[in-house]
Amino acid sequence: MADLEIDVERLDLRVHRPTIAQREAMAMAEPVREELVNKYQGKRFLLRTYGCQMNEHDTEIMAGLLQTMGYTATDVEEDADLILFNTCAVRENAENKVFGEIGRVRPLKHRNPNLLLGVCGCMPQEKAVQEKVQKTYPWIDLVFGTHNLHRLPELVETAMNSQETVMEVWDHAQYLVDDLPKARQDGLRAWVTIQYGCNKFCTYCIVPYTRGRERSRTLESIVDEVRGLVEAGYQEITLLGQNVNDYGLDLGIDFATLLRAVGQVDGINRVRFTTSNPWNFTDELIAAIAETSSVCEHIHLPVQSGSNRILSVMNRGYSREYYLRLVERIRAKIPDVALTTDIIVGFPSETDDDFQATLDLVREVRYDTAYTFMYSPRTGTPAATMPNLVEEDVTKYRLQQLMDVQNTISRQYNEQLVGTTAQVLVEGASKKNDAMLQGRTRSNKLVLLPREAGLIGSLVPVRIESANTWTLKGTVQR
Ligand code: 5AD
Ligand code: SF4
Repeated sequence: MADLEIDVERLDLRVHRPTIAQREAMAMAEPVREELVNKYQGKRFLLRTYGCQMNEHDTEIMAGLLQTMGYTATDVEEDADLILFNTCAVRENAENKVFGEIGRVRPLKHRNPNLLLGVCGCMPQEKAVQEKVQKTYPWIDLVFGTHNLHRLPELVETAMNSQETVMEVWDHAQYLVDDLPKARQDGLRAWVTIQYGCNKFCTYCIVPYTRGRERSRTLESIVDEVRGLVEAGYQEITLLGQNVNDYGLDLGIDFATLLRAVGQVDGINRVRFTTSNPWNFTDELIAAIAETSSVCEHIHLPVQSGSNRILSVMNRGYSREYYLRLVERIRAKIPDVALTTDIIVGFPSETDDDFQATLDLVREVRYDTAYTFMYSPRTGTPAATMPNLVEEDVTKYRLQQLMDVQNTISRQYNEQLVGTTAQVLVEGASKKNDAMLQGRTRSNKLVLLPREAGLIGSLVPVRIESANTWTLKGTVQR
């Protein structure tokens, strides 16, 4: 591994690229080669995750691989022998934060010269990040991307025996790696990846470049995994993909079929899915959600903008009218559905009128929650070179207006629930208040309830007694 005294000028910083034959051989192999199983007993790892649920789930896979190698997890940086940053590239400030954090933990190498520091996930898929590591952060020991996460055991082994940065970033996936060990977090709720990558190429988005083209796992493999999870006591399964409606296009099946199959697994209580896009949201899919009782009444349906002109330059592939009609079609069949969305403000050339169209759409749809973002240019995406940038002050002002409108609506929805009873899956202690437990309704609303023994892990009816913008409070109804 790299130590602190290395001569940067002499480093041979290669990006390792295995041949196709090597990749195929790897696909057939055990996730962790026999010689590495338990080899690292006594060593500890700390994984820091940024970004979306896909990244969180990748972290569970990496934890599973490391545990198979004998590592145990720690939350204490000073105790760690391996610190890995699983990164997000969707917005620039997340990237800056990661580099800041890596710099901050570097001195830990003085205390523990065997400490390995690594960066993985979406950021290393960008050439600019690879170059930045080589030039400015050559003391980082390990760099790998989204397509070779399963190579972690081998890469750790190489880094332990190397003076150089071990950098292995495949630019696309050659095969689909299934059945890796996973160290899932709470024993209650599990993510299951159904599809990798995205084909949509929205002009602002780096995901198709960092995660590659859409690839679907087979229905059998997904249902098997779900069955195993339910047998192990998991109550809630979230199907993950960048664009779940397109699931199975490459296999000749569709998402509605998968949803029905997963929803009918014996003993399953709750099924969620994310992210659903407005394209290809068929009547058959709406029917599958409506008719499968375990599928929760919550759809995350990113709209990004309410202006047809902006939707078109974003390459979103639908109009405001199509989107509003889709919301109508969904609500006609699933009357209590909670709708949430993502919205970008300050996209290049967005005018006041465009922004007003977004505000109007938000008032018309009345989302339960909206995740709002200031546009952030990503090198390599078409939008990054578009003219007519919106000034930061204007973008910030628009973001605030949008949040004010949405927060009022979110609060109104929550207040309407006061006095009703909702089924809550109790997850554990509240993150903010030790005296309380927290859980979620089927519509994904966060509910706080007084701490009581034996509740964690159960589905209970909760009478909602008070509400604010983000949370509900209630007591178990007996
Ligand atoms: N700038 C700002 N927000 C972005 N998103 C994706 N790319 C960008 C970007 N370049 C947002 C979109 C997406 C969510 C996950 O992140 O709203 O739905
Ligand atoms: Fe990005 Fe668009 Fe694909 Fe979503 S659908 S991941 S926003 S390119």
